[in-house]
Amino acid sequence: MPGLLLGDLFPNFEADTTIGRIKLHDFLGSSWGVLFSHPKDFTPVCTTELACAAKVSDEFKKRDVKMIALSIDSVEDHHNWSKDVMAVSSSAAKTLPFPIIADHNRALSIELGMLDPDERDSEGLPLTARCVFVIGPDKKLKLSILYPATTGRNFDEILRVIDSLQLTAHKKVATPVDWKPGDKVMVIPSLSEAEAAALFPNGVTTKEVPSGKKYLRYTQP
Ligand code: BEZ
Repeated sequence: MPGLLLGDLFPNFEADTTIGRIKLHDFLGSSWGVLFSHPKDFTPVCTTELACAAKVSDEFKKRDVKMIALSIDSVEDHHNWSKDVMAVSSSAAKTLPFPIIADHNRALSIELGMLDPDERDSEGLPLTARCVFVIGPDKKLKLSILYPATTGRNFDEILRVIDSLQLTAHKKVATPVDWKPGDKVMVIPSLSEAEAAALFPNGVTTKEVPSGKKYLRYTQP
């Protein structure tokens, strides 16, 4: 199945959406982007996900991340479904605060490797999996996560990984398990002790381990 690898230029596809026809790169402009796909309109898990995405959309805006969803139904279905979504969302907004792509012929789902072979519609055609693509301002793929149709996503986790991506895009650090903004980060292994000392004026602490190797290096970014 075709698919995208980290660092690939994200395709500048044209698509019909709930805000009209777009070209992805023009829609994103100089912002970051998150594209998240859904198996089908008017389905329960997808509805809870879109309702949550609407509720936290201001958090994406704060991080200069443009949101765009995708589902394999028509623009008209998307508009009607959006009303259900906003009725169950606790978002302050009245209308869905991001567009939904209408991938009614599955062209994009195939191009981006998003089909879930285990989930099929009434005609036996595969549905789209729950993909998350985070795209950088350089239009390159920075992160992808792929969930099956039967498992809903966690938008707090998507925001958390975006915080990590945006921090590590500019600083020579990596974020450890369960990291959240404000926590200490780790100095990347390719930096020598001297380079790390020069780069991190807040200091570097190294955790002692039985091997004696000095690779668990923490700093406050
Ligand atoms: C849902 O969104 O609830 C769903 C969609 C396709 C398969 C399973 C669940």
